[in-house]
Amino acid sequence: MKKTAYMTMLCLAGSLLVATSTQAQTSKLVLREDNIEEVVNAMTTEEKVTLLVGGLPEGFKSEVKGVAGHTRPIERLGIPYTVLADGPAGLRFNPTREGTDQTFYCTGFPTSTLLASSWDPELVETVTTAMGNEVLEYGVDVLLAPGMNIHRNPLCGRNFEYYSEDPVLSGKMAAAYVRGIQSNGVGTSAKHFAANNQETNRTENDARVSSRALREIYLKNFEIVIKEGKPWTVMSSYNALNGEYTQQKQGLLTTVLRDEWGFDGIVMTDWGGKDNTVKSAKSGNDLMEPGYQMEIDRLMAAVKDGQISQEELDRNVRNLLNYIVKTPRFKGYKYSNKPNLKAHAQVARQAAQEGIVLLKNDKSTLPMNGSEKVALYGVTSVDFVPIGTGSGQVNTAYTVNMQQAMTEAGFTLDEHLAEFYRSIDAQENAVDMMERGRVTRRKHAEIAVSTKAIGLQAQANDVAVVVIGRQAGEGEDRILKDDFELSAVERELLQNVAMAYHAQGKKMIVVLNIGGVIETASWKHLADAIVLPWSPGQEGAHAVADILAGKVNPSGKLSMTFPVSYMDIPSSKNFPYDPTDRSPRRGTKRNVDFTEYEEGIWVGYRYFQTNDVEVSYPFGYGLSYTTFAYSKPTVKADANGFKATVTVTNTGKVAGREVVELYVATPAGGLEKPARELKAFGKTKMLAPGESETLTFNVSAYELASFNEDASAWETASGNYQVLFGASVTDIRCTSAFKMSKAQAWKVNDALGKK
Ligand code: GLC
Repeated sequence: MKKTAYMTMLCLAGSLLVATSTQAQTSKLVLREDNIEEVVNAMTTEEKVTLLVGGLPEGFKSEVKGVAGHTRPIERLGIPYTVLADGPAGLRFNPTREGTDQTFYCTGFPTSTLLASSWDPELVETVTTAMGNEVLEYGVDVLLAPGMNIHRNPLCGRNFEYYSEDPVLSGKMAAAYVRGIQSNGVGTSAKHFAANNQETNRTENDARVSSRALREIYLKNFEIVIKEGKPWTVMSSYNALNGEYTQQKQGLLTTVLRDEWGFDGIVMTDWGGKDNTVKSAKSGNDLMEPGYQMEIDRLMAAVKDGQISQEELDRNVRNLLNYIVKTPRFKGYKYSNKPNLKAHAQVARQAAQEGIVLLKNDKSTLPMNGSEKVALYGVTSVDFVPIGTGSGQVNTAYTVNMQQAMTEAGFTLDEHLAEFYRSIDAQENAVDMMERGRVTRRKHAEIAVSTKAIGLQAQANDVAVVVIGRQAGEGEDRILKDDFELSAVERELLQNVAMAYHAQGKKMIVVLNIGGVIETASWKHLADAIVLPWSPGQEGAHAVADILAGKVNPSGKLSMTFPVSYMDIPSSKNFPYDPTDRSPRRGTKRNVDFTEYEEGIWVGYRYFQTNDVEVSYPFGYGLSYTTFAYSKPTVKADANGFKATVTVTNTGKVAGREVVELYVATPAGGLEKPARELKAFGKTKMLAPGESETLTFNVSAYELASFNEDASAWETASGNYQVLFGASVTDIRCTSAFKMSKAQAWKVNDALGKK
């Protein structure tokens, strides 16, 4: 008896031991890179659902203050929270924190439009390697960038955060951006996926876009970034696309993004979920940001009643865990909170130098010799605009203005005039602009200078520099009056300064510190030189002065078209440039509740160049202080595509870099196509006078294809192709040709709605 009891006790103890060790084993189960499946199986439904909704548990404190959002921790399983912060021109969070006098400034790098104007993916990677280091060293896991929606219309308020009107330039820049950031072991978020090309009513607007325009224009850049950048995350946009919110559009988020393009990261919403959270989760939107309890409740209910299957739930959870195990926070990285801001500021300055575009330089007005007496006009010469407003803003320690930069470059400013502009309080000077019935303060209302004063200044100084400023921003589109168009005061200032200085045989230089395209055709004749720094970051004014003084030879080229007038733009009759006019009935207002992309693929130069419509400055245009010659190109083609080379020689007197744009004209017949489309580009190294460099370009047969929506297929026609090497889309320096012997097609899913 005793023995049996003894044995029973032993077994009991043993099973208890096993149980405890199993329990200990289970409670010791912690997430690792190699046990994700085990963790998924060990998670409760509540834990799984919690992981799919952003935010932090009640009372939980993130170490990093003022960021955009988080993913939630599940401490039982060793799953940490992770930190998501904006934005494209630099890390954005609170520069100060309670309890410490340490500051947490970030570097304000040039905006995406200026980076694109460099046409230099290597430069972009250099910039974002520095930017990504700040993300890492400040304890953030994902930078919510690149913003990369196509510049469908110049009045989109966020164009400064985006790259271009052309999907190849946009996609290549975004891919370089992603590689640079992620080289630090932190993530990015390609946004806003997709067709988020206006700010007016952005959370509800239904973009109605043909499959061909989507595939060739609005999705092509995202396809490139996914395949060549491999971003950890994608951010679905607020808007709807062909009648479905993009965050709920399975055809977009799963069929195209994952099944066709091979995306293996997570999709998060933009910062606002829609009512149908369940449809978002089922469609492939893994993470709801910023995350609300009601979204957890909805998902819990949907799991319980079977609206969401266990497979769908586990699929999204698996995606989240695969993301989390990549993050520095999961890896326990000990971040310093002390990135090298001084070094990064120099990177920002060099990037601005490379992206600034010289639009006009009559009679070699520029470069100046750097010691001239300069009359510096314009309120923006003091209130210089480094970036636009909204989530893309960066809290920097400083922004250099034009007065400081010109003085440091060696110029002597007209001190009386400089004092006049310093005495103007930019905030007081801001004018209230009515936008959608609400007052938004738009800074930089220009101040008049009397003709008498200008006359005296024209005698006392060697040259006039006039800075025209604009600040665009998230959440509102731009308008024509005093925004796309010059204000009356600005026009008068340019006229009076030009007249007075020309009367003295002196010159006027205009600096466009703007966030997006403005009207230039009606006044550019007044200026002897025009320099376009866009919104060039905290060091941008130094870069402008470097170019004016000839320390740097400008090499930037336009990433979008400057039209003669706004209504020349095909999309302008389908764009909300009068957002204050809102119809009372929702869902019925054109360009507000829905926007018809009636122009289809005819965006930017594809329209202007094909139809020979005059523009003020064409896509790809930019001047240099030197000149370049292009050799006879070589082109070798086969069924897989072609390889081209061209040799560029510096035929001028100063060193410089040249951007070469490779366009292709496809055989006549079949689908109606643009006369030429950008398929590749390259930028020479710095070439000394007389020095040459041979650039090589590779274009695949797939990259030559156009989208046939009736066949739901990419098609590369057989026949004769022209290859054009341009200094801009209209300045073709040399051409070549090749024959594609047989047609090729790549079928895709007809998953995006609207023919
Ligand atoms: C904003 C923006 C998005 C940003 C996010 C977080 O609404 O659309 O670009 O990343 O919210 O701030």
